[in-house]
Amino acid sequence: MVRHFVSAIMGHWVSLMGVIIAVTCLLMIGLLIGLQMTGFEGGAYLGILTFMLLPMGFAFGLLLIPIGAWLKRKQHAKAMAQHGPEGPPLPIIDLNNDRTRGIVLSSIVVGLLSFVLLAGATYKGVHEMETVAFCGTVCHTVMEPEHTAFLRSAHSKLTCADCHIGAGADWFVKSKISGSWQMVSVAFNLYPTPIATPVHSLRPARDTCEQCHWPTKHVGDKLKVETRFADDEANSMTKTVLLMKVGGQQGVTSTGIHWHTDRGVKVRYLSDMKRENIYDIETTTPDGKVKLFKTDAKPEGPVEWRTMDCVDCHNRPAHVFKPASKEINSAMEDGRIDRTLPFIKREGMRVVTEGKYASKEEARVGIAKEIDGFYKAKYAELATTKATEIKAAAAALGDIYSWNVFPKMKVTWGTYTNHLGHADDSPGCLRCHDKKHKAEDGTRVSGGCKTCHSVLADDEPDPEILATLKP
Ligand code: HEC
Ligand code: HEC
Ligand code: HEC
Ligand code: HEC
Ligand code: HEC
Repeated sequence: MVRHFVSAIMGHWVSLMGVIIAVTCLLMIGLLIGLQMTGFEGGAYLGILTFMLLPMGFAFGLLLIPIGAWLKRKQHAKAMAQHGPEGPPLPIIDLNNDRTRGIVLSSIVVGLLSFVLLAGATYKGVHEMETVAFCGTVCHTVMEPEHTAFLRSAHSKLTCADCHIGAGADWFVKSKISGSWQMVSVAFNLYPTPIATPVHSLRPARDTCEQCHWPTKHVGDKLKVETRFADDEANSMTKTVLLMKVGGQQGVTSTGIHWHTDRGVKVRYLSDMKRENIYDIETTTPDGKVKLFKTDAKPEGPVEWRTMDCVDCHNRPAHVFKPASKEINSAMEDGRIDRTLPFIKREGMRVVTEGKYASKEEARVGIAKEIDGFYKAKYAELATTKATEIKAAAAALGDIYSWNVFPKMKVTWGTYTNHLGHADDSPGCLRCHDKKHKAEDGTRVSGGCKTCHSVLADDEPDPEILATLKP
């Protein structure tokens, strides 16, 4: 039995080559996986070698075995006809024979060449799969919200893989496995709408964000000016001026908002699976002191511990879906929407948040019709003298809608909230800084308005501070 099997495999030089190739590849794979398990990080190339090229070589080797066996059978049948039932002796590969040598050498060359070609093609394929175009548009409808927001973000020149995969073999493989599942789920319409936020599967910021942003960089105070327009006929403009205490590490001490992720500081917290409600918070400071803050709130449902990193505040670094009012304020500020159009803020808010449209195209048409209709009914003269401005405003509102609302993916205003601050739709920082988290010594997680910023002007038409700064 075993002898038969072995002789079937070994019987022909093609099978024998197959066995040698397959076994070598297998041993190499084992060796490299072993190496990586002991902590050796070789980068994505090692991953490609371990998980793509060597397996391909292995498959190639395996393929050769049956081919050899088949060739042998053919030989055998021929020999049976010539020599009777005992069959022929094993074939002799005589390398002194010019013909045989030619065949052997050229097979090796051809084999190697096709291996290199195949490998190159696969590598290129894999590389292709990590481009923004592939990630963002191949599964167009599914990734459209994230892709659209990404293109408008400060990170629009990155690739999706920079944050979602990062460097190293293990995450590369993980991404390919989950990517394959994503392909299947897209093909069979199994994906959830909206796509859930990858709270658990996202790679820790240390391996992604911190590859480009040094966590020890001291940002210090950062001035922030926010322009708002009101609901009245004149769209009254006000300014809010904040001095954000971003801080960071300076020498051996670290202060301010970036304190949470500075070296030597560790903040862990217990929360629900969506990280919206935060219960216990544990801090470890550089002096080694550990402190636990607790709340009276009791969790309903499953909870888990997580170590705070950049993404706990910057959860929308690339996919920023802004509230409608912020979008319209900035469009009015930079002139995409003419702020002299009466009630344009109020009407703009109404059409983008209350209108129900089945698609972007329908929304653009509907929004333009509503805005045009409003001015024709209420400001007939203006509707003709400012026809161009009204048209431009409607187009800008159409853009704003199509950047933030994706009916097919059930993504609408407020679906993905931003934790970088405190807003109506998301408590953000106040998940912890609500003065309700208390330690045994009686201290609480700070919550005063001056902890994080000085409010230099709050909704003022003409703040003095700006006149001082920009005389
Ligand atoms: C600057 C880093 C960064 C880049 C670049 C990036 N993402 Fe994200 N992505 C994130 C973070 C952070 C989250 C949310 C994680 C959280 O809230 O825990 C996320 C979430 C997502 C989600 C889940 C749905 C959601 O909005 O929460 C999808 C889908 C997604 N990204 C796709 C993409 C695609 C496609 C690209 C490339 C076009 C891309 N990402 C580029 C950081 C990034
Ligand atoms: C491949 C490099 C790279 C990675 C990875 C990266 N960033 Fe950035 N980040 C940049 C660049 C480049 C800019 C733009 C700087 C500029 O505009 O001056 C930027 C800008 C920013 C800004 C300021 C702009 C804004 O939107 O307010 C923040 C905040 C930020 N990144 C956070 C993050 C976070 C959080 C992550 C991880 C989820 C991350 N970055 C990952 C390169 C990177
Ligand atoms: C506790 C919440 C929090 C954490 C954690 C946090 N940030 Fe920030 N970060 C902020 C806030 C708030 C700002 C100011 C935002 C603004 O401009 O209004 C900011 C600003 C920034 C900026 C812009 C700085 C500038 O010069 O304008 C960058 C870049 C940045 N953070 C990167 C990171 C990175 C990388 C990490 C992880 C190592 C991180 N942040 C962790 C809250 C946080
Ligand atoms: C997971 C809980 C948690 C979240 C979320 C959180 N913080 Fe904190 N923060 C803490 C704890 C705990 C401390 C330490 C106790 C204290 O100083 O109040 C702290 C301290 C601070 C400090 C004082 C640092 C110092 O010592 O100089 C600032 C400023 C701050 N946080 C700002 C923010 C801002 C801004 C956000 C949102 C963008 C935020 N935090 C989100 C838990 C959190
Ligand atoms: C734990 C830190 C923290 C505390 C405490 C805090 N804020 Fe803020 N606040 C922020 C951050 C972060 C932002 C967002 C800045 C940005 O948009 O980048 C913000 C934004 C604001 C804004 C501008 C809002 C907008 O949409 O532009 C105002 C006004 C404001 N805070 C007022 C207050 C007042 C009043 C208090 C006290 C009741 C307070 N904040 C407490 C961190 C804090």
